[in-house]
Amino acid sequence: MISLPPRWMLFVGGIAALALAIPPVVIARVRATPDPEHAVHIFFDMDFQPKFKTQEPNPLFADGRSQRLPVAGSIARGEGNPDLHRTTGVVNGAWATTLPAGLTMNDAFMERGQQRFNIYCTACHGYAGFGDGTVNQRAMALMSSADGPAHGTAWVQAKSLHDPAVREHTLGAVFSIASNGIRTMAGYEAQVSIEDRWAIAVYVKALQLSQNATLQDVPPEVRDALKSSPVEKNPTATSAAVKAPTATPSKDGVK
Ligand code: HEC
Repeated sequence: MISLPPRWMLFVGGIAALALAIPPVVIARVRATPDPEHAVHIFFDMDFQPKFKTQEPNPLFADGRSQRLPVAGSIARGEGNPDLHRTTGVVNGAWATTLPAGLTMNDAFMERGQQRFNIYCTACHGYAGFGDGTVNQRAMALMSSADGPAHGTAWVQAKSLHDPAVREHTLGAVFSIASNGIRTMAGYEAQVSIEDRWAIAVYVKALQLSQNATLQDVPPEVRDALKSSPVEKNPTATSAAVKAPTATPSKDGVK
């Protein structure tokens, strides 16, 4: 027969077991107390965070606001009413064929476009836009090295801007390509201002017109003079030698 321990021992043991349950209960109660000042923090977890809660005052600023007002002039994404013609080159879901409001077609604008094109686009596309710029030539040479592309060069031929498919692009589409790039070509939004990208687009359209014009495009009164021009007489003149257009197409005439 198993002999039970003395009664007093059972009694003390029972009390001890009950007492053991007290600390967890106290901890649970304290943890649940929603008073950060008086709660006993046994585990700190993330109870203390150096932050300001919504609408809490912040003595750091003179106006006492912890939430700062947006910087004057800032526009939240999706808010505001940007001129999409100007910023994207799209009008009513189609590529624009005209300049956006605020930009005027004139000699100065065309010349600005030529200058910017010569700076930003000719390295690859060439001065006359045939895709024969110096960077392109160098890259093509590296690509065609006898032992395979040098230094792992991978290069996509810069498009001729006189390619029939490229000529199809309207003014707005060229603006968008200059801004965002296309396929392997990078965009120039970051380094060329929006006005200058429109000027470049205008110049590209003029360049296309100039390299694909027929006699019919020339005003009748100057056709005779053109027939005796040196370019006409010299069939070996290369495309690059053909001067960029000096005549300015009217704003409506630029497609
Ligand atoms: C670093 C070289 C480089 C520069 C600089 C460059 N392009 Fe290009 N561009 C390319 C290449 C490469 C393609 C062909 C991309 C492809 O087919 O993947 C191209 C294609 C194009 C096309 C034809 C798009 C089509 O529909 O096929 C247009 C238009 C164009 N570029 C305009 C411009 C304009 C405008 C600039 C100056 C703002 C410019 N590019 C600067 C390399 C360049």
